[in-house]
Amino acid sequence: MKLIAVDHENPQDGLLEEAAHILQNHGLVAFPTETVYGLGALATSDEAVAKIFAAKGRPPTNPLIVHVADLDAAQSLVKEWPPEAEALARAFWPGPLTLVLRRTDRISPLVSAGLDTIAIRVPAHPVAKRLLELTAAPIAAPSANPYTRISPTTAQHVVQGLGDAVDLVIDGGQTPVGLESTLLSLVDGPPTLLRRGMISKEQIEKIIPLQDKTSLTFADHRPRHSPGLARKHYSPERPTRLVDSPEFQRLLNRRSPTQAFLGRGAHPDQENLICLPDNPEDYARGLYSALHRFDRAPFEQIIIERPPLSPEWEAIADRLWRASTE
Ligand code: TXA
Ligand code: MG
Repeated sequence: MKLIAVDHENPQDGLLEEAAHILQNHGLVAFPTETVYGLGALATSDEAVAKIFAAKGRPPTNPLIVHVADLDAAQSLVKEWPPEAEALARAFWPGPLTLVLRRTDRISPLVSAGLDTIAIRVPAHPVAKRLLELTAAPIAAPSANPYTRISPTTAQHVVQGLGDAVDLVIDGGQTPVGLESTLLSLVDGPPTLLRRGMISKEQIEKIIPLQDKTSLTFADHRPRHSPGLARKHYSPERPTRLVDSPEFQRLLNRRSPTQAFLGRGAHPDQENLICLPDNPEDYARGLYSALHRFDRAPFEQIIIERPPLSPEWEAIADRLWRASTE
């Protein structure tokens, strides 16, 4: 595994050309997007895509997201481009929104895990964007973490999680959004939200009407039944509890050294207490780093303060619920 650092705003072509070359030769390159780091491979190559599943230990039944440089490239990979896709792409691309559409045969069938659809997005991060331009091909890239583990928001997270399974890791610093993209299906019936992200349901509903199949009822942030969406995802290794604020304070006041706490507010970090900023954008940006940090320490339990019940916190509430084990 090789690690190279690039300027995250103006990445150097000389460095990214090496990455593009590895991708074109069916290798694996981890790179920053605005959401999380992706584990990239040439989406047209069975050989390259198979390496993604092997490196992550991901079941071949779980399809991957394909990244493209622009709207034209996205359209060239799909059979139908419905008006909803046009409206959403114009509103949110480049950016953290992934659309599921009917696919053509240009992509390796392994990417779609046997489905006739493709999940596709145009990333906004300058490194991802330039890498796509230099590679001149679609790049399949799930989050660059071992299957069921926390997504990486720094290059160090990628190195710790995947190490030598990757040919090259591009270090572009911390990813600015911090949570995975919002995922929306535009096939088989009305537009449907499949995964929450920092582009909120409310923002999307300003553009098109939406059906919600994510696994929480956000009236109270409690789970409801949701077939087909794995809960065990984005998980820290330790038992993790999500508790309301008063209970969080109570447990914090009588904490034991084997417990780690993740709260909100302006308290300075301690070894077993991280307080993330009390606004959703900054909280999301820091969340996975906090969970990664606790995961590497010998705590027996992680206790997390439940987020506020408002739409801007819904994607965070979703990830915290998935991270929690009780
Ligand atoms: O922000 C992101 O989306 C990041 C960055 C790297 O772009 N990628 C990411 O990929 O989160 P991954 O593989 O960890 O999550 C992809 C999700 C999975 O839940 C997968 O089941 C779903 O997208 N997915 C992929 N293709 C699909 C399809 N054709 N139909 C329905 N769901 C699909
Ligand atoms: Mg993932």
